[in-house]
Amino acid sequence: MYKLFTGLQPSGALHIGNYFGALKPAVEMCREYDGMLMVADYHALTTLKDPKAMHENILGVVKDYVAAGLDPEHTIIFKQSDVPEHTELAWIFQCLVTVPFLELSHAYKDKLAKGLEANAGLFAYPMLMAADILLYDTDVVPVGEDQRQHLEYAREAAAKFNNTFGETFKEPREKILKSVAVVPGTDGKKMSKSYSNTIPLFGTKDEITKAVMSIVTDSKGELPENVLAIHRAFKSEKELGALYEANKKNYKVIKEALIADVEAIVAPMRDKRDSISDADAKGILKDGGDRARERASKKMADVRKKIGVSI
Ligand code: TYM
Repeated sequence: MYKLFTGLQPSGALHIGNYFGALKPAVEMCREYDGMLMVADYHALTTLKDPKAMHENILGVVKDYVAAGLDPEHTIIFKQSDVPEHTELAWIFQCLVTVPFLELSHAYKDKLAKGLEANAGLFAYPMLMAADILLYDTDVVPVGEDQRQHLEYAREAAAKFNNTFGETFKEPREKILKSVAVVPGTDGKKMSKSYSNTIPLFGTKDEITKAVMSIVTDSKGELPENVLAIHRAFKSEKELGALYEANKKNYKVIKEALIADVEAIVAPMRDKRDSISDADAKGILKDGGDRARERASKKMADVRKKIGVSI
């Protein structure tokens, strides 16, 4: 069975960009794959230093995963910090790649440009992500476009290790769906927690309405481009063509249609999410952590032997 792996950072509430770019494809593919979905808490620590928010967000992401349709019996849902082999392998990869190579990271440069502190964790971030993926002999990683380079880093880490210590890691490939590779936010830029331009995935109807109504519509042509760009994640070009043609310049009607389309998808998931307790989420993490650890410890035993530290 093919192996699928992906992760989301518990750095804030998920938005519809996360959903269409990564979560929805992962949920669909997990029906046929041996899937693992991770809560990337140690990645989130590069930016989030609020223990209470971290704790709440971790449980929140587990609920999001299940509400979006993942079956925790079939798919392993776990958190990164429960499997210390991730940070252990990341260290080994850091000893194989160079500083100039890591300096090429777009994500790192973007984060510095946004004014984030250049902590060493942020810098080494791609090697922890490489460890996440490679530990489990992953075949495919569903992600949004912003993670493409991270997959290149993961393949490079695998190749470096294999060349140095012998064939050990499989080179994974990314699965990026073209139509939703970059879901734009309410201002037309990429939807991102850090740009405050998101439509929350599990927001209340009021929050969703507020976010959609705030989409910037000072378009030059006849179409509200920013609304249409978000709407494309929900409906086909053909369906949208008719709606937008019939309501030229009537932005209110178009935005109301988008709110209805968001609600149609979100409302059932929101109800399901509300039915999952913190205790349920903790139970899922415990079970998933045990299953992930069993796999990771086997792989790391081989890695330790290969590098010569097993005596
Ligand atoms: P994160 O938490 O920033 O984002 C989670 C996923 O959502 C996708 N995404 C988007 N897709 C389309 N349009 C958007 N506007 C948009 N915004 C976010 C991201 O591409 C991502 O797939 N480094 C990862 C977390 C991670 C991971 C991993 C992923 C850690 N280890 C191993 C895969 C495999 C991240 O920061 O995702």
